[in-house]
Amino acid sequence: MKFKMIYSFLKSDIDLIEKELKTAIDSRSPLLNEASLHLLSAGGKRIRPVFVLLSAKFGDYDINSIKNVAVALELIHSASLVHDDVIDDADLRRGKPTIKSQWDNKTAMYTGDYIFARSLEYMTKIENEEAHKILSNAIVELTVGEIEQIKDKYRFEQGLKDYLRRIKRKTALLIAVSCQLGAIAAGAPSEIHRKLYRFGYYVGMSFQITDDILDFTASEKELGKPAGSDLLQGNITLPVLYAMNDPRLKERIINVNEEVDRAILKQVIEDIKGCGAIEQSHALSFRYLKKALEELEGLPKTSANKTLRDIANFIGKRKF
Ligand code: IPE
Ligand code: IPE
Ligand code: MG
Ligand code: MG
Ligand code: MG
Repeated sequence: MKFKMIYSFLKSDIDLIEKELKTAIDSRSPLLNEASLHLLSAGGKRIRPVFVLLSAKFGDYDINSIKNVAVALELIHSASLVHDDVIDDADLRRGKPTIKSQWDNKTAMYTGDYIFARSLEYMTKIENEEAHKILSNAIVELTVGEIEQIKDKYRFEQGLKDYLRRIKRKTALLIAVSCQLGAIAAGAPSEIHRKLYRFGYYVGMSFQITDDILDFTASEKELGKPAGSDLLQGNITLPVLYAMNDPRLKERIINVNEEVDRAILKQVIEDIKGCGAIEQSHALSFRYLKKALEELEGLPKTSANKTLRDIANFIGKRKF
């Protein structure tokens, strides 16, 4: 995979984190063990641990301590995916059946809780009250973001602000905090970890916008998760918001509901793709990416800085 090439110099540290992740989810309960391992071993981009490690390079980098933060962040992300697949009723994740589909919703609920708890256990290895506050706040916000999304389903009169606030909470903050906590745990000064936080926030916004575009433009095979299901489920993402600027298309979009005829929905999706909304969404994603790159300019010109830039640019063009 090309993405992994960008941070190949971190390979031995990432391998260590992979091992640690397996240890972290080890449970006496065979079911929790099997379900957690099922998701973990299906892969994933491991973007959050990579951001933790690269940000720690701006301080005193000690893999034996920083690995705990990286593991904690990947576990929080994993737990949120297990719950997200229940909420989104998704059957595929990372090219494999989701926990909720291979087992059931109840198993997924507790597996998610279990993985969350394991992540906190890893974080306690970092003795820093500020770090703990930052992390718990990120979990709170993520949950609020996901619940707001449920509340905002089929609410076609919502605006760009609602969307941006939602994706900030459900996605961007966790990426921001991955960068910030990596730097804090490595003892980097506040002007550095604040910049890294902002970098992560902008990258995270761009990342979720791309995810929402890919839901329209990519295939299930490419994504390893269901495509085309956001609108069907009433999730008003950025391409939909832009498409609704066309009054005739808006009229048809607001008639979408769970019972809509599949052929009609397919045509609405095709028209959203053809009306310029995808290009407009890409443009906003790139604006966030540009802001992220600007933050890096204010940081020391190290190889970690260059790698963060390469990753940000890769995220802007990602197809999975
Ligand atoms: C998926 O995150 C959920 C979003 C925030 C869009 P990733 O795209 O990082 O998922 P994995 O870990 O690589 O599977
Ligand atoms: C991001 O939203 C999920 C979380 C922040 C947990 P999505 O629901 O779009 O994520 P995918 O597309 O299922 O990975
Ligand atoms: Mg979701
Ligand atoms: Mg989902
Ligand atoms: Mg998605």
